[in-house]
Amino acid sequence: MIIILFKNFMTKIPYIKPTNSEKVMRDSDFIVSKTDSKGKITYCNQIFMEFSGYTEKELLEKPHSIIRHPDMPRAAFRLMWQTLENGDEFFAYVKNLSKDGGFYWVFANVTPNFDQQHNICGYFSVRRKPSAQAIETLIPVYTEMCRIESSISGNKGIDASTEYLVTVLNSLGKSYNELVLSFQ
Ligand SMILES: Cc1cc2nc3c(=O)[nH]c(=O)nc-3n(C[C@H](O)[C@H](O)[C@H](O)COP(=O)(O)O)c2cc1C
Repeated sequence: MIIILFKNFMTKIPYIKPTNSEKVMRDSDFIVSKTDSKGKITYCNQIFMEFSGYTEKELLEKPHSIIRHPDMPRAAFRLMWQTLENGDEFFAYVKNLSKDGGFYWVFANVTPNFDQQHNICGYFSVRRKPSAQAIETLIPVYTEMCRIESSISGNKGIDASTEYLVTVLNSLGKSYNELVLSFQ
């Protein structure tokens, strides 16, 4: 808790107490955002504002972690950044935190943007309504990953949680992308 409060203070993100109130995406919704190369929001569409509960002014120039939900394992974001920094696109089911403490699940696609020299100059994300089956399957996996990360501190905890994810994938006989895309 102290670490979260310190991090929020440093990034000027207010601490929000999560609640059990869920907002469900409609079939026709697309939640869109763009960031600079550090992950600071440079664009968000109307639906992003509707689900997150923030105004455009409150979102622009803020780190994308402003909507980070504590039920999301840190290993998921490490995998995301590793994939993006490698120049590849990333798919994930993400539980996001709204300004009022509620949550909303998304199926996210995140891609790097390249400049003319092919250097990464920012990122782009589009989120759609996730399948109920995906969420049902992933909740216990994310819960266990968070439990591992809170019982082993720092990078070792993220390593152990990643190992757990790999064990789950092996038991299902699927790669990460195969599992994620198989649900939609
Ligand atoms: C284009 C883009 C979209 C992102 N979308 C989300 C998102 O919807 N929810 C989220 O929690 N993090 C998102 N992130 C990841 C955050 O930048 C951050 O890594 C994550 O919230 C973990 O925060 P932390 O490292 O401060 O714990 C996104 C990053 C990028 C570049």
